[in-house]
Amino acid sequence: MRAADCCEEGCAMTLLQAAARVRENAHAPYSGFKVGAAIRSADGAIHLGCNVENVAYPEGTCAEAGAIAAMCAAGARDIAEVAVIADSPEPVTPCGGCRQKLAEFAAPDTPVILGTTSGRQTRTTVGALLPGAFGRDHLATTREG
Ligand code: THU
Repeated sequence: MRAADCCEEGCAMTLLQAAARVRENAHAPYSGFKVGAAIRSADGAIHLGCNVENVAYPEGTCAEAGAIAAMCAAGARDIAEVAVIADSPEPVTPCGGCRQKLAEFAAPDTPVILGTTSGRQTRTTVGALLPGAFGRDHLATTREG
């Protein structure tokens, strides 16, 4: 089954299993570190992403960014739950940029499940990952410059 076939209506996979499945499609020839991410949006749909590296290294994109882009492309804007998985000794945590990207579409108490391919798992929240996040309220002052 291709990752894209997972998590259609009625799929019994957990969000972390969906992330593990899409991780197989990661393009990570430079780091060798494949990451999969799955987002459940508030409407119940599942959106998948994997890291996509580039020979010009900074041009690569993270798995979380891919899942967020898929969610937006599907017309959804509210993240209900996130799962991220990699083949790491400890559950992988999203990079700083991805924490900010997740915070754009998630409430501070939105659950984030972090897993390893060997079966380790931890749970956290978007707010715990990014305390003191820069948010919309910070923009709502003056608009000079
Ligand atoms: N990476 C992700 O996709 N998500 C994370 O949460 C951490 C890092 C990717 C970026 C790069 O392709 C590889 O993992 C090594 O940093």
